[in-house]
Amino acid sequence: MSGRPRVFVARRIPDAGLDPIAEACDLDVWEDELPPPREALLARVAGCDGILTLLTDRVDDELLDAAGPSLKVVSNYAVGYDNVDVAACARRGIAVGNTPGALTETTADLAWALILAASRRVVEADRYVHEGSWRTWGPMLLMGSDVYGATLGVVGLGRIGQAVARRASGFGMTVLYSSRNQVASEIETELGATYVSLPELLERSDIVSLHVSLAPDTRGLIDADALARMKPTAVLVNTSRGPVVDPGALAAALRDGVIASAGLDVTDPEPIAADDPLLGLENCIVLPHIASATLATRGRMAAMAAANLLAGVRGEPLPTPVKGPGA
Ligand code: DGY
Repeated sequence: MSGRPRVFVARRIPDAGLDPIAEACDLDVWEDELPPPREALLARVAGCDGILTLLTDRVDDELLDAAGPSLKVVSNYAVGYDNVDVAACARRGIAVGNTPGALTETTADLAWALILAASRRVVEADRYVHEGSWRTWGPMLLMGSDVYGATLGVVGLGRIGQAVARRASGFGMTVLYSSRNQVASEIETELGATYVSLPELLERSDIVSLHVSLAPDTRGLIDADALARMKPTAVLVNTSRGPVVDPGALAAALRDGVIASAGLDVTDPEPIAADDPLLGLENCIVLPHIASATLATRGRMAAMAAANLLAGVRGEPLPTPVKGPGA
């Protein structure tokens, strides 16, 4: 027995996080590229003082029981924490941390990559050239829709939604937003954003970008009815969580021309099945949940997750605690 806190880290994360943990703790890291299977996860957390989880690891009563009474902290390597039963942790006095702020701008950049790519059919056009179909400059070839001057609808105006809206000024856009709560008028003024209901946003926007956290009231928020409200020329972008969109309804809407195109960084389920109808559609871009995947941002997230883990095992307040379910 070293007397050092025992911690389990559920995947190899950047050294900016692993190094300080290894210095202070008895560290057990899951080295595989794939997440630990449930049985392995339950076995490896037994007797730990702290665990560092990813969005692929479900933290619930079963896992907390398996960890046992020594567990003081769950540090989630993500800003989203819908994989963690925060109430169950609170009942046992276990602190929960996440990584807010670290990935805001990086995620907003990727939302914009999808906005531009889906509006201007960039992925489809690249595929067209690579497969040898390009024969001449064509007056009707691969026509998309303008981003400059369009109306952007931001659903959820938290940190990331605001960063997405801020970038719209360079594109001369009208910005609408819907959110659980209207933001302060100074923020609305700075962003040039107008608060509207979700139905109005869906009806008026040329581009709809989703930035809500996954909660009971946002699961399936974009369903067949919501899609039917959108313009037939509209573009839907999702960098939040897959289950915010009903995948079957989206596939039907893209196939039947209810909306024009979609750019998804997140799917339901993840990974998406190889035979999912969305993957058969030219007008749907699907990325493997990479919105925060830059070297700098993943390093920052690792350092924040490590700081939460170390504070938790020492019984100190976490630098970035999760305040409660849906906080
Ligand atoms: C998060 O942090 O919630 C993202 O989905 C992954 O970085």
